[in-house]
Amino acid sequence: MTDDTLVALQQQAHTRHVIEQRITRLFAAEDAGLQNALEAAKVAGLPAIQISPIQGKLLQMLATLCNARKVLEIGSLAGYSGIWLARALPADGHLLTLEIDAKHAEVVRNSFAKAGVGDRTEVRVGKALDILPTLESESPFDLVFIDADKQPYPQYLEWALRLTRPGSVIVADNCIRGNRLLDPAQVTDETEKAVAEYNQRVAQNPRLQSLALAMDDDFTDGFTIAVVRPEERS
Ligand code: SAH
Ligand code: DHB
Ligand code: MG
Repeated sequence: MTDDTLVALQQQAHTRHVIEQRITRLFAAEDAGLQNALEAAKVAGLPAIQISPIQGKLLQMLATLCNARKVLEIGSLAGYSGIWLARALPADGHLLTLEIDAKHAEVVRNSFAKAGVGDRTEVRVGKALDILPTLESESPFDLVFIDADKQPYPQYLEWALRLTRPGSVIVADNCIRGNRLLDPAQVTDETEKAVAEYNQRVAQNPRLQSLALAMDDDFTDGFTIAVVRPEERS
């Protein structure tokens, strides 16, 4: 690679970063509740692997668009994405978020309360694949957000399909991972295989209308978004 090419690439990366910052400032600024959740996560020593503000705003808009009253999240971490989602809910709405780590769950409950959404949120501690089969009586969920361990993504999709209704939205994070996932020939490790399988199944499911959207980490990662189609349409 020549020096000129390198400089051009660095300029492109810088431009993307500035654009992301400006969009964030104008459209996806964090309120005190979100800022507190990030601070509490840092103090508790949790990894900073939450979604970006732009992703949070998109989740919130998707929840608003489908008139979400019941939202299911798989993978709470410190409650950052949960706060974005809970803010789209009406007063009698409910966000149920599943978290395997009891320490994370404690941080989440505090952050939800401080953000003023304690009344419409619930953190359930356990392995998602153990909890999901118990949720039928609480379904259908209007929106499901998948963002926990990556290996079971295809199984999380099966549960999401069972626990939703026509018109529901199913969103999963980390579906692109540096473009390898969109090219099955480049996928080597088991985690990547599982997420590639997730994308494949979503894209090919006739019940779903779907799109992977590169939007995070300098456009190398992002959501796959799917809408459950109405039963029949001619
Ligand atoms: N959605 C969060 C980030 C989630 S990070 C945000 O954007 O703010 C992934 C979380 O999933 C971690 O807190 C991790 O402890 C949890 N997790 C990992 N494996 C899990 C499992 N099998 N069941 C439930 N939660 C799990
Ligand atoms: C990891 C997990 C995530 O959900 C994410 O958004 C980023 C990184 C991880 O396990 O490294
Ligand atoms: Mg993620």
